Amino acid sequence: MKIEHRPGAPDRLDTPLLALAAFEGDAPSQEILDLLPGERAQVLERAWRDDEFRGRTDTSILLHAGGDDEGPRRYLVLGAGSREKADGETIRRLGGRAVRKAEAFRLGSVALHLPNVQGLDDEAAAQAGAEGLALAAWRFEELQAEDDERPRRPVEAAVVTGRGNQGDEERGVRAGTATARAENLARTLQSRPGNVATPSHLAEVAEALASDSSLEATILGPEEMEAEGMGALLGVSRGSAEEPRFIVLEHKGGEASDPPVALVGKGLTFDSGGISIKPSGGMEDMKYDMSGGAAVLAAMQGVAELEVPVNVLGVVPASENLPSGTALKPGDVIRTRAGKTVEVINTDAEGRLILADALSWVRDRKPSAVLDCATLTGSCVVALGHHAAAVLGSDDDLVQEVRDAGDRAGERCWPLPLWDVYRRQLDSKVADIKNVGGRPAGTITAAHFLKEFVGDVPWAHLDIAGTAYGEGKLPYRRDGGFGFPTRLLLEWVRGRAP
Ligand code: BES
Ligand code: MN
Ligand code: ZN
Repeated sequence: MKIEHRPGAPDRLDTPLLALAAFEGDAPSQEILDLLPGERAQVLERAWRDDEFRGRTDTSILLHAGGDDEGPRRYLVLGAGSREKADGETIRRLGGRAVRKAEAFRLGSVALHLPNVQGLDDEAAAQAGAEGLALAAWRFEELQAEDDERPRRPVEAAVVTGRGNQGDEERGVRAGTATARAENLARTLQSRPGNVATPSHLAEVAEALASDSSLEATILGPEEMEAEGMGALLGVSRGSAEEPRFIVLEHKGGEASDPPVALVGKGLTFDSGGISIKPSGGMEDMKYDMSGGAAVLAAMQGVAELEVPVNVLGVVPASENLPSGTALKPGDVIRTRAGKTVEVINTDAEGRLILADALSWVRDRKPSAVLDCATLTGSCVVALGHHAAAVLGSDDDLVQEVRDAGDRAGERCWPLPLWDVYRRQLDSKVADIKNVGGRPAGTITAAHFLKEFVGDVPWAHLDIAGTAYGEGKLPYRRDGGFGFPTRLLLEWVRGRAP
């Protein structure tokens, strides 16, 4: 979707649909009344008095312009709920709702007028608006033929206007467009099935990102992994006919002497569980087990596009996890890149294995901070459901920084403790560590496993098993991949700029 910021009065816009926000209250705000032409302001006041429309969330009223009116053909007044509770997410959803209405009316474009939200600066408001518009417009259609049931009439263009500082709004629209473009790339990669989005496919996508931007790509295949001693990543991929890839994207936005920040994403392109095979019901969703990797590739596209003045490393260990005569077996002991041996109790706890080698590789690059994201444990879904990722880490300040970035980006995470007492659950009798810690606190023991491989680098881990994909209940989402936590990653990296 092409999004433009237009300065000046929205009531002069030549658009088929202008979306405006109305907050709940005793009467429509003067701000809205002033934007409506002729008698439309009175229509709105009347609707309010008659209790037909009072700005409640998820209600709306559509007002058509008169035959001779210039400017927008239709005014979509969107209920935005309580003004006190409004934040960036409120605006993101307004953008999404505007696009959904435009789709329903088969309009090719839409305009959004930003509401004034207390505590939110003009740039952040415009960014959220652009994100909501562009995220809502995304579709995954590459594997379906066009037919009468599924006409392709995308909302191709959007305009954002507002009453704030025009330069700030303009910058916000640019950031929001790039952020949504990145998150949409993650959603596209997530949506591709396991037979399309293989490890080598993700590597090709990374190489294409590099050739289209200032990013640099380095891809390791099995032989290079062997030379690196990546026995964990190689072990997980052993049961599969598809070769693994170790994908590195670099963004050199900072000073050459600045240490990089590192983003690491689990790129497990299909998780059958391996020999510890999963039940077949719902197994198709395990194509989404590369969601962390997709978000990291996407965030790297975003940092390059936004020319963020920070050195950033994006790392994605990519593999399948399948059962076969060559697959890892429960009880096998493998040697990781870091030299630690792992007793593989359960071959379905494979994410932590491929991440172990990636984190040890990243640690050698001496980053100032590492943030990894992974659809790592079913326990996380039990603990937090679908509304927040779990965040755990060795550094409380970094965990707080990640939480703040998530709150700003509308991709929330919530902390779980990483106390030493949980580490004992991973003690092995035959190896240095085992890969599962039993049922209690599964998300915490998984994070403890990762911690063994990052050393003393400040590190935080996001378990996104419950938040990466699902039913697209928000107006800017669709069923399937959400691109989570691409916005959080970008926001976090941008927050590290000097
Ligand atoms: N990819 C799964 C975790 C997962 C579960 C993601 C549900 C999304 C939804 C991971 O590889 C896995 O299988 N974890 C096991 C670990 C267990 C064997 C210790 C789990 O959570 O059951
Ligand atoms: Mn698994
Ligand atoms: Zn997995």
